[in-house]
Amino acid sequence: MTSVRERLSVLVASAFLPEVEAEIANAFDATFEATSQPALTIRGSDREFDAVLVSLDAPMPAEAIDSLPESVRAIATYSVGTDHIDLVAARTRGIAVFNTPGVLSDSVAENAIFLMLGAARRATESIALIRDRKWPGWNPRQLVGVELSGRRLGILGLGDIGIRIATRAQALGMEILYCNRRRITGDEDRGFAFRASPEELIAEADVFMIATPSTPETRGLVDTELLRHAHSGSILVNIARGDIVDDEALIQALSEGRVWAAGLDVFAGEPNVAAGYFDLPNVFMLPHIGSSTIEARLRMGRILIEALEAWRRGRAPANRVC
Ligand code: GLV
Repeated sequence: MTSVRERLSVLVASAFLPEVEAEIANAFDATFEATSQPALTIRGSDREFDAVLVSLDAPMPAEAIDSLPESVRAIATYSVGTDHIDLVAARTRGIAVFNTPGVLSDSVAENAIFLMLGAARRATESIALIRDRKWPGWNPRQLVGVELSGRRLGILGLGDIGIRIATRAQALGMEILYCNRRRITGDEDRGFAFRASPEELIAEADVFMIATPSTPETRGLVDTELLRHAHSGSILVNIARGDIVDDEALIQALSEGRVWAAGLDVFAGEPNVAAGYFDLPNVFMLPHIGSSTIEARLRMGRILIEALEAWRRGRAPANRVC
């Protein structure tokens, strides 16, 4: 940081809940202007901003970061994922980036369980049957799903969210396998079984749960080749980022019964959703609502306010990404 101000001047480039915006207004000299191009707004403003508060709907690619005026020294994103921010460009410019780890993990983990249950219990078909007023009444063959108890959950990416999904799934009676860059040891070891590769993991998983960030290494990782290892009774759940999955490969695997069902909260190119998913009743889809609970939303605002305040005072908050 070049200079320390009494109050940071912040462009708030996303529209947050009124409670969150009130707390932001209390903490900073905030300018609220929701925009999908925050850098353009900053350049067009006669105000000098120290920081910009963004989210998934206000991305910061390299060109945007490169074009920021010198005064902007921090980007705070109202998300745990940072794939909408070019971290290399931020690092090169010496711009600090903050995100919201931890505070949304319970909400996202609960949503992961919801997706897994929704896929297992054929929620898309069940909801359509009753809401379309087509339910003929109970019968023993109707909408037969699968139990999760006793099945294996394979988690790709056992970070904070992955661990919270795992502990909830253990309460459902599931066995936990995981594949991670880092093998869990010592106090963190809760009896989860490590698998060295995504191929080994998906081959053994009854539910394959994608909980890893989108990075150059994970983008497109779940492709035709990987899906070949899945067994025909398996369920795929994606709570992370859509671009980790090759949609056409998954759609084909689901259509051919090589994967039994899917629960998806995230999609490549949101808000667009690959057309093939709409034709598949075995896909339970949600519009990226993982962290959308009042509890998470409030905490996400607070952790960013605290981070920017700590940074203004020259401290290094734990949620500084770079
Ligand atoms: C939401 O997807 C987030 O990254 O927080």
